[in-house]
Amino acid sequence: MTRREGAAPGVVVLTGAGISRESGLSTFRDPDGIWQRVRIEDVATPEAFRRDPARVQDFYDARRAQLADPAVGPNAAHAALAELDRRWPGDFLLVTQNVDDLHGRAGSQRLLHMHGELAKARCLRCGAVAPSPPRLADSPACPACGERGGLRPHVVWFGEMPLGMERIAEALARCGLFVSIGTSGSVHPAAGFVAEARGRRARTVELNLEPSEGSAMFDEARHGPATRLVPEFVDALLRDAGA
Ligand code: APR
Repeated sequence: MTRREGAAPGVVVLTGAGISRESGLSTFRDPDGIWQRVRIEDVATPEAFRRDPARVQDFYDARRAQLADPAVGPNAAHAALAELDRRWPGDFLLVTQNVDDLHGRAGSQRLLHMHGELAKARCLRCGAVAPSPPRLADSPACPACGERGGLRPHVVWFGEMPLGMERIAEALARCGLFVSIGTSGSVHPAAGFVAEARGRRARTVELNLEPSEGSAMFDEARHGPATRLVPEFVDALLRDAGA
C-alpha cells in the first residue's frame, strides 16, 4: 500500500526484556538476569530439550507461573505502546523479543512475538499451537490431538528460526521510524533491525536503561527507565503527528 504524501510514517517498535523489568520480570543479561543463574545450553536449545526435557519444562513452567502472579502486570511503558498502537494514523508494528504476555494484556493489537510466547504450547505430534496448560512438566494431553507428552513451550530456542520474519522485514522496509526499547542488542536477528531501518533512511531511536551494544547505530539514544522514557516519547510522537 503506497503512503499518501504527508501521511504519517510507518512505525516499527522493537522491545526486549528491559520493558518488563519494572513489572517485576527479570531480564537476561543484567547482573541479576536469568542467564546469570541458568545456562542457555541447559534450558534454551533444542539439544537441551532432547537431553533433559523435564529440566527445560520446569524452567518455562516457573516463568509461566510468574505471569499468573497478581503482582506482575503491564507497566506504563506497555500501556504507552498500546495507546500508540490505537492512535497512530500510519502503519504500526510492535515486534517483541519477550515471551511474556504483558504487551497483549496492555492492549497492543498490531503485535508480533518473534521469540514465541510462554502462554502458548506447541504439540510435537500434530503441530497445533494453543494456550498452554499451567505446567508442561506433567505431560498434559494436547487439546487438539489428545496425545500426551508431546507438548513443548511455544518459545523460539537458540538455533531455531524466529517467528514472523517476513512480516518484520516488510514493516522495516516501509517504516520511517524505528524505536528500540529495553533490549541489549546482543541477539540477532533482532539486533540487526536498526541497520535495516537505517538502510531505508528511517529515523532510529533507542530508549534503554543504558547504552546497548548497538547504541552507536541509532540517530538518537535516550537512557533511563522505560516507564519514564516510553510514555514521554509516545506523548511527543502523537502530539507532533496531531494524532
Ligand atoms: N528500562 C529500560 N531498559 C532496561 C530496564 C528498564 N527498567 N532494565 C533493564 N533494561 C535494559 C538493560 O540495560 C539491557 O540493555 O534492558 C536490556 C535487557 O537486555 P537483555 O537482558 O539482553 O534482554 P534482551 O535484549 O531482551 O535479550 C534478547 O536474548 O536470551 C535471549 O530470547 C532471549 O529475547 C531474549 C533475547
